[in-house]
Amino acid sequence: MKNKAYCESMRLTVDYTNMMSSALGDKGFTDKALAGYAAQARQAWQFVADNRGKDELYMGWTELPYNQKEIVADIKATAKKIRKEFKYFVVLGIGGSALGPIMAFTALSHLHYNDLPDKVRKGPKFFVEDNVDPVRMHDLLDVIDPKKTCFNVVSKSGATSETMAQYLVISDLLEKAGVDLKNNLIFTTDAKKGNLVKISESLGGVKSYVLPDGVGGRFSELCPVGLLPAAVLGIDISLLLDGAAYMDKLCKQKNMYKNPALLSAVLQFAAMQQGKNIGVMMPYSDNLKYLADWYAQLWAESLGKNKTLDGKACNVGQTPVKALGVTDQHSQVQLYAEGPYDKVITFLSLGKYKYEMPIPHGCRDIPDVGFLGGHTMEELIQAENKATAFALMQAGRMNYTVTLPCLNAFTLGELLFYFELQTAYAGAMLNIDTFNQPGVENGKKATFALLGKSGYEAKKAEIESADALQKYTV
Ligand code: PA5
Repeated sequence: MKNKAYCESMRLTVDYTNMMSSALGDKGFTDKALAGYAAQARQAWQFVADNRGKDELYMGWTELPYNQKEIVADIKATAKKIRKEFKYFVVLGIGGSALGPIMAFTALSHLHYNDLPDKVRKGPKFFVEDNVDPVRMHDLLDVIDPKKTCFNVVSKSGATSETMAQYLVISDLLEKAGVDLKNNLIFTTDAKKGNLVKISESLGGVKSYVLPDGVGGRFSELCPVGLLPAAVLGIDISLLLDGAAYMDKLCKQKNMYKNPALLSAVLQFAAMQQGKNIGVMMPYSDNLKYLADWYAQLWAESLGKNKTLDGKACNVGQTPVKALGVTDQHSQVQLYAEGPYDKVITFLSLGKYKYEMPIPHGCRDIPDVGFLGGHTMEELIQAENKATAFALMQAGRMNYTVTLPCLNAFTLGELLFYFELQTAYAGAMLNIDTFNQPGVENGKKATFALLGKSGYEAKKAEIESADALQKYTV
């Protein structure tokens, strides 16, 4: 673990001034109104504290920063071998099994990683197949050589149609190329159950990592689901877990004003109570672009529920919207500033970018352009970030800013754990099961039925009866 001074220098901060009435007038929360949520916040904190690590509640993810010493050592050794032996690394998976690896890849790798010369990249080209679009699979096969590729098949159930269809395409190709499948495959799956376990046995034992029982897909980035791909990219996975542990430590505070994830959950919960059912995630960093995708799944699948824990009907949740600063200033910000008062905007900011990129002097005779010279692109993006938050504040729009001092494995770990805890606290305040996903399961079953999987005949008949409804088309 890094020392105290390092941790403090890397601490994430949450500035929620623009959620408060001092900035927004009657559109913001008064100190008193916010304090009114303190009791609920304490209960939510207690719920998370009491249930940490409980597999039966799918809260095993809270312990991931602490209980993976041996697994991390094994992953590092495997990743070293993969980096030497393979030209390509492909993750086959979807949803929680894909969004984390895509997010960490984009956050901590060169933005044109796969285009770098081999000597600079020093590891395999990296792909994550988060869909079953046939064109995507076809085009992937145009740019990789399966014989020189390590395929990491990630599925907790081993029964997800998308992932298993990807697996069938790839295993058929490898077989036809005369490759001993187990040399080019790594599975990340359940310890004992599931089809990947059976497939591994039938292939004579495929190298496999465990997706722990109490860790659901969207909370899995800090287990082998995310750690293996990250290590293959050369990311320091121990530092990632240290960052998560540091955030966990900060959030041991029961007092919501001292606990960044709890306070953020309270702000979002209080905003939802006012009908702010849209949550915009707007990172001012191309590296964090897919953090917004990862967060969208975490927030939507966890909070979008129709039943409270005591069985009462409800329809809760906040629709996550992905935006990118500054790009979406020229696209969506008009709506945020002048459209309905139904959103909370979360800005993700960086205190320091990896590069500053000076803007040279030029066009001195055209003041509209010349004023930019002598500044840096870092100054420009930070100014635009600040200006947008200010303009939205002036328009009475709730927004708050989460700032990382810089982006590295430690701060990314902090950020991920902050959002995971925020989600757990918000779910507890909404009194729902944050960790199930019955709505997703229903769609999975309907797909099985449509493709004729045995045991799903009744579902198929149900879907066909919907086909008989009067059609309206134009
Ligand atoms: O968050 C979730 O649980 C889902 O998005 C799953 O990760 C996704 O459906 C893939 O499931 P599995 O890992 O069983 O293939």
